[in-house]
Amino acid sequence: MDALDTLGRPLRDLRISVTDRCNFRCVYCMPKEIYGRDYRFLDRRELLTFEELSRVARTFVEAGVEKIRITGGEPLVRRDLERLIAQLAELDVDLTLTTNGSLLPQKAAALADAGLRRITVSLDSLDDAIFRALNDVDFPVERVLEGIDAASAAGLPVKVNAVIKRGVNDDQVVPLAAFFRERGHTLRFIEYMDVGHTNGWRLDDVVPAREIVALLDEAFGVEPVQPSYRGEVAQRWRYRDGVGEAGVIASVTQPFCGDCTRARLSAEGKLFTCLFAVRGHDLRALIRGGASDEELAATVRTVWGARADRYSELRSAATDDLPKVEMSYIGG
Ligand code: GTP
Ligand code: 5AD
Ligand code: SF4
Ligand code: SF4
Repeated sequence: MDALDTLGRPLRDLRISVTDRCNFRCVYCMPKEIYGRDYRFLDRRELLTFEELSRVARTFVEAGVEKIRITGGEPLVRRDLERLIAQLAELDVDLTLTTNGSLLPQKAAALADAGLRRITVSLDSLDDAIFRALNDVDFPVERVLEGIDAASAAGLPVKVNAVIKRGVNDDQVVPLAAFFRERGHTLRFIEYMDVGHTNGWRLDDVVPAREIVALLDEAFGVEPVQPSYRGEVAQRWRYRDGVGEAGVIASVTQPFCGDCTRARLSAEGKLFTCLFAVRGHDLRALIRGGASDEELAATVRTVWGARADRYSELRSAATDDLPKVEMSYIGG
């Protein structure tokens, strides 16, 4: 039976972070001043093993989950990730992954063979200088584009996500749109969010989705498309000339908590019921303490049943100082 939270929202998506590490230091996510040499990342023993993850995922599927997204940090830095994909592929859900694309040239084929159904690549700029400055490890944009091509060649449908930050890459909206619609990949623009505390977020840095849509309309002409399922995060727009579509994710200016069906599992096995949650429920302690499948299932249902989160709808000065978790820990 479906698990419903206190606002009547079913549990449909599980986002699993498999590592809190990343080979990039994107300025809006893992600024170098904080994630430098001395930063304490999770130790290998603290991470859920693939077997533990598969067990947790199965429990969630039994509670109603239909889509599983693997995230990080950067999920492809976790060794042998394709082994986990192969285990999760047996669950027969929409299985996907969000990556910065840097390791896709060597990993795409193995991921597709293991049963990954599609993939989302984050890419915020086509301009090499801007991209290198954004990832802050001097990583060339060309290599990410090779990664996208490798995923396509392996048969994986690709979406591209771009976070837009005012004054940094807002001039990339039209070039990104032109580039990816020609190649047949759906591009989604994401409003820069106040996740965590380390990125120094300010409302002035956000480019509202309606401004992004106006830019697209001016350059190409766009019209709205109906959502493909209830609770779809991105608002969809189609180019009037029939060549492709784009999306905007307006989590700051038009929050979508009312339809939020997403649970998040951190790499160390904490269950969070909101991207902006302060605390997670420790499933690892339960598993390593010898809990039965029934106990694990009951806990998932109880935690989801008690859920009342709608952070983005409540966002205000009063929520600014709450001790939120970081994006690189919870996986976006
Ligand atoms: P599809 O399955 O391809 O439709 O993907 P999706 O749009 O459901 O998820 P995706 O992981 O591509 O989400 C893109 C971005 O939207 C994330 O990186 C977050 O920045 C933001 N986002 C996704 N889910 C939530 C959410 O529940 N709350 C908020 N505030 N932002 C979210
Ligand atoms: N606001 C919006 N999106 C973000 N991401 C990381 N940090 C932020 C933020 N502050 C995005 C990444 C990637 C996904 C995992 O989350 O660009 O697409
Ligand atoms: Fe890494 Fe993604 Fe964060 Fe960039 S946004 S630092 S690629 S986890
Ligand atoms: Fe869901 Fe929390 Fe995002 Fe709202 S802010 S959509 S409740 S994850």
